[in-house]
Amino acid sequence: MQTRIGSVGSLEEGKDPVITTRTSQSKTLPLRALQLFGFFLALCIGFSIISIYTIRRFGIYSTVTTVKSTFVPCAEEPNSLDHWRKPPLSLLHSMSDKELLWRASFVPRIKKYPFNRLPKIAFMFLTKGPLPLAPLWERFFKGHEGLYSVYIHSLPSFKAEFPSSSVFYRRQIPSKVAEWGRMSMCDAERRLLANALLDISNEWFILLSESCIPLYNFSVIYQYIMKSKHSFMGAFDDPGPFGRGRYNYNMVPEVNISKWRKGSQWFEVNRKLAINIVEDVTYYPKFEQFCRPACYVDEHYFPTMLTIQTPNLLANRSITWVDWSRGGPHPGTFGRSDITEDFFKRILEGHQCRYNDQPSSICFLFARKFAPSAMEPLLKIAQKVLGF
Ligand SMILES: *[C@@H]1O[C@H](CO)[C@@H](O)[C@H](O)[C@H]1NC(C)=O
Ligand SMILES: *[C@@H]1O[C@H](CO)[C@@H](O)[C@H](O)[C@H]1NC(C)=O
Ligand SMILES: *[C@@H]1O[C@H](CO)[C@@H](O)[C@H](O)[C@H]1NC(C)=O
Repeated sequence: MQTRIGSVGSLEEGKDPVITTRTSQSKTLPLRALQLFGFFLALCIGFSIISIYTIRRFGIYSTVTTVKSTFVPCAEEPNSLDHWRKPPLSLLHSMSDKELLWRASFVPRIKKYPFNRLPKIAFMFLTKGPLPLAPLWERFFKGHEGLYSVYIHSLPSFKAEFPSSSVFYRRQIPSKVAEWGRMSMCDAERRLLANALLDISNEWFILLSESCIPLYNFSVIYQYIMKSKHSFMGAFDDPGPFGRGRYNYNMVPEVNISKWRKGSQWFEVNRKLAINIVEDVTYYPKFEQFCRPACYVDEHYFPTMLTIQTPNLLANRSITWVDWSRGGPHPGTFGRSDITEDFFKRILEGHQCRYNDQPSSICFLFARKFAPSAMEPLLKIAQKVLGF
């Protein structure tokens, strides 16, 4: 789209010198020829304006996909690195999951990038449909363009209607139905990772839900993630019925019970671990076959797999705060009346954890679950309590 609009624009610019040289000669030209020329010029300008408008208004979706796949490789600079360096023009694509995972697993063998790469955080929203807390996120992202990318996996039937100024505008990836506790949920998470991996500048990948909020401003979160030696994947060995009790001995030899882990679904992983997850063909079949409800696979597959493969890269804790204090199978949900300074004091303070092998009191960067009614008071309190 950019190339096309760009070329139309430059065509128009190219007309200006023609006008000036011609008009400077106007004295010598007969009036009739001048009129004819003027008419012709008006026709040309009119035509370009109409075509730009048509492309902007109607052509974008259909042209983008074809432009991306057929136009770019044979553009003016066929051997330019841009194709690899820049994110895809559109998140829409026609790859199947199998094709997508294969494509996303490409890794350069030379570790040093031959261009100035500003590492980005990919914020991946796993949601059913709307994002009621979007205004808070918009404010959070404002002013940090170039340091983040946004991806949304929703129900396939959901049609997002974000204005073109929104960070969520056209950030939906091709999605499928995902069910809690089933492999289709892990498939959705891998789909998000794979789509985000297509942008070579994405270095860290955070899974979020529509009920998540950030607990600090962007700068604090970016620094915390960037400087961490570990990825924040919750992983613990629970000897009880809801931990080891869900293990199935048919999983040996790939998965030994001593490596069986449990953890919250809401993770942060770096690019290396994201690739481990999308390229996996070893553990996937075992989990798919032998971890079915009451074994909730989204709580075990990635923590266990990564504990086997790269235990030293894991912080073994999640950076997303949830409230289990009310008991029951679902964490607490907070609405309008819960949003007070004291409430955030409780979330932000009074925790101890390890960060880069040192004790730290900053343990959580995100929190859930927040109801749509929390939106308004959150916007009021954010500047003072969350720093944005
Ligand atoms: C699981 O690992 C332990 C050591 O951690 C080993 O002794 C045991 O034989 C393994 N079990 C299987 C079934 O491979
Ligand atoms: C996380 O757990 C693994 C074992 O499951 C361990 O090797 C690793 O050191 C732990 N990470 C941290 C930061 O303690
Ligand atoms: C972000 O928050 C930190 C700590 O609360 C604060 O020091 C900093 O000034 C904030 N940054 C911006 C850009 O507001």
